[in-house]
Amino acid sequence: MQKEDLDYFREWFFEYVNRFFSSDSFIRENIELKIEHTRRVCENILLIAKSEKISEKECILAETIALFHDLGRFEQFTKYNTFNDSESENHAVLGVKILNKEGILTRLPGNEIRLILKAVEYHNLMEIPGDVALSDKLHFFCRLIRDADKIDILRLASEGYAEEEKCRNPALELYLPDTKGYSEPMVSEILNNRMARIEDMKNRNDIKLLRLSWIFDLNFPVTFTLLKEYGYLESIISSLPESKETEVLKKHLEKYLDTIESEARSFS
Ligand SMILES: [Fe+2]
Repeated sequence: MQKEDLDYFREWFFEYVNRFFSSDSFIRENIELKIEHTRRVCENILLIAKSEKISEKECILAETIALFHDLGRFEQFTKYNTFNDSESENHAVLGVKILNKEGILTRLPGNEIRLILKAVEYHNLMEIPGDVALSDKLHFFCRLIRDADKIDILRLASEGYAEEEKCRNPALELYLPDTKGYSEPMVSEILNNRMARIEDMKNRNDIKLLRLSWIFDLNFPVTFTLLKEYGYLESIISSLPESKETEVLKKHLEKYLDTIESEARSFS
C-alpha cells in the first residue's frame, strides 16, 4: 500500500465517525474520546514501528491498522451506550464487519486486506491466538497494535484518575461500583506476572489493576520507555487506595519494571 491509500483511509475515517455525531453530550463526549484515542494510537504505533526500523511501507500499514483498530467502538457506543464488550458486542469483530460492509479496503491487495482485518480482530484478545498459524508478519503487526493501544488506554486511565473527582466518565469505568478493596483473582494474577481478566473485575479498583497488569503483555522495549517517560503507571499506582495489599502490589510491579529496565540496558 501507498501513502495515498492511507490519506484516503484517514479521510474516510473522519467522514465515517461524523455519522455518529450526537446531540446527546454523553454520547458525543465518548465518541470524541475514541476519535482522540485513535489519533494517539496512530502516533504510538509509528513511534514503536520506527524503533523497530521497519520500512516506510510497513509504517503505512501499521498506521492503517491503528486507524481502524477501534472502528467498531463508534457503533458500539451509539447503539449500547457502553464500551463493555460482554454487555454489548465484541468491538474488534464489529470493526471487521464494518470494514467489510463498507468495502473500504478493496483498493488494497488481498494479502494486505487480510493482514489488516486480522490485526484489528486480534487487537483486544487476551492473547494473540497461538492455535492458528500466524505469519511472522501478522504476528509482528498484532504485537505493534496491542502495545500502541495499551499505551493510550493507560494515558486515558492515568488522566482520568488525576482528575477523578472533577470529571468521572462512568463509561470508561465500565459502570463498575466504587467499592473497597480488590477482587482476589486480580491481585493473584499480578503477583504471578500475568494479565488479569476483565471478567474478574468487581469494582473500580480492579479496573486499575487490570490496566497495571498489562505490563505483563507488552512486546517492545520502547513501549516500556514511553510509559516510563509519560509516568502513566506511576500515576495509576498512586491512585490505588492505601492498604497493605496495595503496598505488596506496588513493590511487585516496581520490581518487575526494574528487571525489564536492567534487561533492556544489558542488551543495548
Ligand atoms: Fe479496542
